[in-house]
Amino acid sequence: MMNLFDTHAHILDDQFNDDREQVIRNIYDNMALVVNIGCNLEDCPHTVALAEQYDKLYAAVGLHPEDVKTYTPEGWDMICRLAEHPKVVGIGETGLDYYWDTSTKDAQKVLFEQHIDLAKQLHKPLVIHDREAHGDTLEILKRTNAKEAGGILHAFSGSVEMAMEVIKMGFYIGLGGPVTFKNARKAVEVAQAIPLEYLVIETDCPYMAPVPFRGKRNEPMLVQHTAAKIAELRGISLEELIEATYQNGKRVYRLK
Ligand code: NI
Repeated sequence: MMNLFDTHAHILDDQFNDDREQVIRNIYDNMALVVNIGCNLEDCPHTVALAEQYDKLYAAVGLHPEDVKTYTPEGWDMICRLAEHPKVVGIGETGLDYYWDTSTKDAQKVLFEQHIDLAKQLHKPLVIHDREAHGDTLEILKRTNAKEAGGILHAFSGSVEMAMEVIKMGFYIGLGGPVTFKNARKAVEVAQAIPLEYLVIETDCPYMAPVPFRGKRNEPMLVQHTAAKIAELRGISLEELIEATYQNGKRVYRLK
């Protein structure tokens, strides 16, 4: 289990305020690496500080599409400065979310392209959120030549066809708790169909806890349940799945 790599966690979420140290201790006892994702102007500096403090934690910084209304030029400058930090290994979470709010579509697109520019400048991969925005996400990734930066389509919810299309551009597919859910048809198909070398695993904690913890608070070490489910779906051993996703995670985040 020691090579478990959670490629997408939110350890600074308020739901960890009472026991964050224990959650980090669980990482040290059970896992190899976690990339902790900053989503808003308040969390990003803390995400970097936490990564400075713990060698198993890395950081990504960005402004989530759901938080597009909090954008300020000063805030963006801060993200750009933080992004240069050596323990910041990804740009995001960024992308498009048309599930919660479609009134901000245009602003989300502008902000997404800003993140893509930054990722290309710094040669760091993108951490991409795409919820009910598959067409526009693909269009922007292609038009901006985002494959220069590469990255992960996290919590991937598209079809096998879309997965293959972004993999052809060099992007990785991030799968988490939903692949273990009873009603998870698309995620299961994707987990089975894509080449193993483009698959990474994640929790997106505190949300999306895998079965048998569905509905409860998620945390990085629970990624082992997602790993076990995907190994079963692909008919390979858990060890092989963990080792492959560990190597893939290190490759996409360009870790030594
Ligand atoms: Ni996330």
